[in-house]
Amino acid sequence: MDLHVIAEAVRARTSLPFTDRDAERILAAILTSEDIWRIIDLSDVPVMALCQALREMGKAGWLEFAGERIRLTPEGRGLIQGAGIAPALELRCPRCGGRGVELGPVAPIAEKFRGIAKSRPEAIQDYDQGYVTEESTLYRIAFLWARGDLAGKELLVLGDDDLVSLAAALTGAPKRVVMLDIDERLVGFVREVARGEGLQVEALQHDLREPLPAGLLSAFDTFFCDPTESLRGFLAFAGRGISALKGPGGAGYMGLTRREASLSKWRAIQRELLERGAVLTDLRDDFHDYVNWPYIETMRSWEHLPVKRVPGRDEPWYRSALIRIELVEAPKVANERLEGDIFTDPEAATT
Ligand SMILES: [Fe+2]
Repeated sequence: MDLHVIAEAVRARTSLPFTDRDAERILAAILTSEDIWRIIDLSDVPVMALCQALREMGKAGWLEFAGERIRLTPEGRGLIQGAGIAPALELRCPRCGGRGVELGPVAPIAEKFRGIAKSRPEAIQDYDQGYVTEESTLYRIAFLWARGDLAGKELLVLGDDDLVSLAAALTGAPKRVVMLDIDERLVGFVREVARGEGLQVEALQHDLREPLPAGLLSAFDTFFCDPTESLRGFLAFAGRGISALKGPGGAGYMGLTRREASLSKWRAIQRELLERGAVLTDLRDDFHDYVNWPYIETMRSWEHLPVKRVPGRDEPWYRSALIRIELVEAPKVANERLEGDIFTDPEAATT
C-alpha cells in the first residue's frame, strides 16, 4: 500500500480531483497536528477529498481515530519514513499574519471598524455566508490602497458580508463606494452605519444571479468580490465584477480558497480569467481568515469528518487567498441571467 493506491481510491470513490501529492500533504499535516481542523488548514487539500483520504488511510491501517484526535499508527509512521515525508511547517509572519503588507494609513480607522462590526448581522446558511475576521478586511483595504486601487477610485463591492464597503469608506480615500448584497439585513446595516457615520456608501439589494443594473456596467475602477466556491458560481460572480470595470487598467479582487477548490479548479478559474481579458498580478495565499460560522454542524462536510469537534469561534481553519487581477483588454463577459443552482458542486463543503 502506498500513496498512489490511496489517491486512486479517493478518486474512484468520490470522482474528485486528488493527487499523490495531496495524500503527501495530508500526512505532512498529520505529522504536525492530531487535530482535524489544523490538519485541514495545514494540508490545503479540499475538505471533501480530504475526508475520504483520511478514511482510506484509516482502512489501510495508517491512522486511528481516537475520540477527537487523528493518530498515526506504527505502520503509518513506517510508511511516512519510507516515503521521506517531513512535518508541515507554517512559518506565518507574526507581524502581518503572513499577508505581506502593513495597515499603514488604514490603522487609524481599525478601532472604529471593529466597533461597527460588533453589531453586524450574523452569517446565515441561506446565502452561503461566512465572513472574514475584521483584521482580514482591514488588511484587504490596505492592500487595495497600496496597489493604487482605492484612493480617488470608484469601488464596487459584490456581496459584502465582510463589510468591505464600510471599511473602504471609513478611510475617506475612495471617490465612490457601491455595495450590492442579496441579504436585506446587510443592506440595511450598511445604510444605517453609513447614515450614522456620515459615510458615502450606496447600498443596493441585488441578487448576483440577475444581470447587473445597466448603470453599474463599465462604471468602476475596482471591484471586490468573495465569490461562492463552485466553479460556475465563482466565474459568474467574478464575471459580474469584470463587467462593472471601465476597461483595461481596471482591477478586480477576489477570495479563492483551497478548502473547497482543488488545484484543478484553480486552474480552470485562472484560465477563464485570462480568457476574459485579465491577467493575475497578485496571489496572496491565506490572506483571509474566516470567523467560524454558527452552522458548522449542518454544513455539507460535517458528516464526512472522521472525527468531530466543533471548532472555537477564534480558531480559524477556513482561509482563502486574495487574488488581484487587472484587465489588459476590453472585458469579454455577457451580462446574462444565471439559471439553476450555482452554489453547489462536488467539492462544496460548507454550503
Ligand atoms: Fe510580515
